[in-house]
Amino acid sequence: MKKIVVNDLRKTFGDTVALDNVSFEVPAGEFVAILGVSGSGKSTLLRCLSALAAPTSGEIVIDEEPMLTPRPEVAMIFQQHNIIGDMTAYSNALSGGIHEAGLLESIFQLQNRGEKERALEALDTVGLLDEAEQQARSMSGGQQQRVGIARALVQRPEVLLADEPVASLDPGSAQAVMRYLQHASERRDLTTFISLHQVNIARKFGQRFIGLRDGEKVFDGYRDELTIDAVDRIYGDIDTEGMFVKPDSEPASSQETEVSP
Ligand SMILES: Nc1ncnc2c1ncn2[C@@H]1O[C@H](COP(=O)(O)OP(=O)(O)OP(=O)(O)O)[C@@H](O)[C@H]1O
Ligand SMILES: [Mg+2]
Repeated sequence: MKKIVVNDLRKTFGDTVALDNVSFEVPAGEFVAILGVSGSGKSTLLRCLSALAAPTSGEIVIDEEPMLTPRPEVAMIFQQHNIIGDMTAYSNALSGGIHEAGLLESIFQLQNRGEKERALEALDTVGLLDEAEQQARSMSGGQQQRVGIARALVQRPEVLLADEPVASLDPGSAQAVMRYLQHASERRDLTTFISLHQVNIARKFGQRFIGLRDGEKVFDGYRDELTIDAVDRIYGDIDTEGMFVKPDSEPASSQETEVSP
């Protein structure tokens, strides 16, 4: 479990201000959803948190240590689940140990027993132990995304970052993947950051919410604070009413469209 401190984080690309002096502190073990319209800075924030992008100014401190280069204890899951179709779920999960084993060893599967056990444990965490020997390409999008999560877990992270991990999935699969992410996070005491564009899914699974708009942090709070007004602040003039339909896509009753608990 790692505490994360972000101080005055700013990231510009030429004239574009992708992140505008964003600050927040996340205690170890929190499950945070990052919300915002397209272009609001969600991916940039995650890329800075994982040190895949360098801040223009400001700093990120994870567990008292400035985050200057990528670290294995900070794992990132991408939307395009970077898994290899020709390999089994198990081999894909195993390749998450790449940081420790080295690329060649990883490819030739020379990992030690500990790593193999970790790969199986990780598949178990995402409910895919029975599918370990299945080729990744023959799996559904949701299952493939879970293989991607297992792959990240083999790295033994303490911080898990996921950039729109359910964006390309149907509502049912999206919820299943979110449940496994939540389960992994609880079971392994991970501090978790997930960017999502579906507010209803974020609300259902998130514990804390950080809202970005044009690179600025316009919301930071817990579930009961994520009111319709707060969502308006994050999404502006977009019609946000439809964002509160029940996640299993049944027509929302008037009571269910209420955001305050
Ligand atoms: N490598 C880059 N070069 C130039 N501009 C960039 C780069 N990456 C991001 N930007 C710009 O920074 C801003 C924030 O982009 P970012 O990708 O973080 O948004 P996002 O919230 O993840 O959007 P989406 O929901 O579409 O994924 C946008 O204006 C984007 O065009
Ligand atoms: Mg993005």
